[in-house]
Amino acid sequence: MIETADGSKTLYLPELDETYHSTHGAVTESNYVYIEKGLDFWFSMYPNRKRVSVFEMGLGTGTNALLAMNWCESKGCDLKFYTVEKFPLSSALMREYWDSLPSQSITKTPLDVVGSMTLSMGLATKSDALHSAPWETWVDIGLKSGSFSVYKHESDIQSAVIPQEIDVVFWDAFGPKKQDGVWGVSLFKPLFDSMRSGGVFVTYSASGDVKRALKEVGFKVEKLEGPPHKRHMLRALKV
Ligand SMILES: C[S@@+](CC[C@H](N)C(=O)[O-])C[C@H]1O[C@@H](n2cnc3c(N)ncnc32)[C@H](O)[C@@H]1O
Repeated sequence: MIETADGSKTLYLPELDETYHSTHGAVTESNYVYIEKGLDFWFSMYPNRKRVSVFEMGLGTGTNALLAMNWCESKGCDLKFYTVEKFPLSSALMREYWDSLPSQSITKTPLDVVGSMTLSMGLATKSDALHSAPWETWVDIGLKSGSFSVYKHESDIQSAVIPQEIDVVFWDAFGPKKQDGVWGVSLFKPLFDSMRSGGVFVTYSASGDVKRALKEVGFKVEKLEGPPHKRHMLRALKV
């Protein structure tokens, strides 16, 4: 477990020499790539839609799921969050991870004001609910407003069951240079087919190969400015 530049934590995997998030700010990166460029963007196109269905590749620490929960609470909408994970982290490790988060210190840079606001909204409690929820079934997680149900699917992404009518995809796999078989046409095609038209796919990666694979399956791809210390990220639309 290591502290990142905005005060939030990430995990380091020595066997891949890879972290779960950017060391320049884990929450800042997740918030920027998946919430601002994903959910907020989707909502800007469909402000009257009160139901949204999210697919995530890689639950990991649950950072994206927890930020999505707070987003859902702030909008008062119904969010269905389906996530695939091959190597679930233990509830005990996740309790330590989220309990040790010094939310008051997530204010080191101006960008992190967003992270600090969202973190103050009880992520540790929500994390317990998320990580202790059973796998392979829909579980409702109580919020002050709106509703959030999560389906945690323990599977390799290569053989995962993909749900229908996805609105927003969070593709948060380890980097294409670090791990084989978690990016590419064979994975993106079934996902594209399962998305609603107008759906949005976001990832922190700006790799040329990823961009080409997304285009090949039919997405309209844009390269956006990346989170701090990263030049670009990708957003793809099913038009
Ligand atoms: C970059 S981490 C991101 C995790 C998460 N979104 C978070 O915020 O902590 C990538 C995640 O993908 C998972 N993963 C790696 N290989 C996988 C595979 N073949 N199928 C499904 N999940 C995989 C890892 O265990 C890890 O949790």
